[in-house]
Amino acid sequence: MVWIAGAGGVGREALDVALAAGVPVSGFLDDRLAGGEVRGLPVRKPAELPPGAPYVIGIADPAARARLAGLLDAAGGHPVTLVHPRAIIAPETELAPGCLVMGGAHVSSSVRLGPHSQVHYNATVGHDARLGARVTVYPGANVSGAVHLDDDSTVGSGAVVLQGRTVGRAAFVGAAATVTRDVPPATTVIGTPARPGPH
Ligand SMILES: CC(C)(COP(=O)(O)OP(=O)(O)OC[C@H]1O[C@@H](n2cnc3c(N)ncnc32)[C@H](O)[C@@H]1OP(=O)(O)O)[C@@H](O)C(=O)NCCC(=O)NCCS
Repeated sequence: MVWIAGAGGVGREALDVALAAGVPVSGFLDDRLAGGEVRGLPVRKPAELPPGAPYVIGIADPAARARLAGLLDAAGGHPVTLVHPRAIIAPETELAPGCLVMGGAHVSSSVRLGPHSQVHYNATVGHDARLGARVTVYPGANVSGAVHLDDDSTVGSGAVVLQGRTVGRAAFVGAAATVTRDVPPATTVIGTPARPGPH
């Protein structure tokens, strides 16, 4: 029985992954919606996670994921990984605890996903890519071979990261961008070729 932290859009998508994978879900953990029900399941405050209980975080924002992981680990929880049965995880690929991989995602050979990373539906991650902690690859994005996505970075929907490039810590690749050069830490890039922006 797993608890899902976050009862918003990604949290409900995490529930869909759990249901498809045959993993029973105890409920959601969400401060805003605590005391109610979502999709027929109880919602508790994150601080009310039963000690030792397995959990996965269904929230896209890396900073929120970091905060919740710290809180839930301190409460004695342990992170588990959820993979949709229609996702492909190639041989020699390692998923750290707390990862979420949605339907139609293809994670290729010899890839490493750091803790609490997410690969959303129909996204691809090429061979030998290294994803740090709390990385998010949004729907339909294509991360090429040997790319390094550093901790807390995000690749937006339909974006492409060319082979071997690095997306720095907490950087954000906008939807549909094409990354042809390394992206510095904490920088948002948009467009083809991707350049810092929009602000
Ligand atoms: C890059 C991004 C983070 C910028 O967000 P923002 O700061 O809120 O930007 P705004 O929406 O205020 O847009 C500011 C300007 O940038 C442009 N812009 C925004 N995102 C863009 C993108 N991905 N590519 C090209 N231009 C973009 C807007 O058209 C706007 O231009 P204008 O001022 O000429 O009208 C965001 O647009 C984005 O791409 N997010 C990814 C979303 C995603 O993949 N979600 C998946 C959910 S399942």
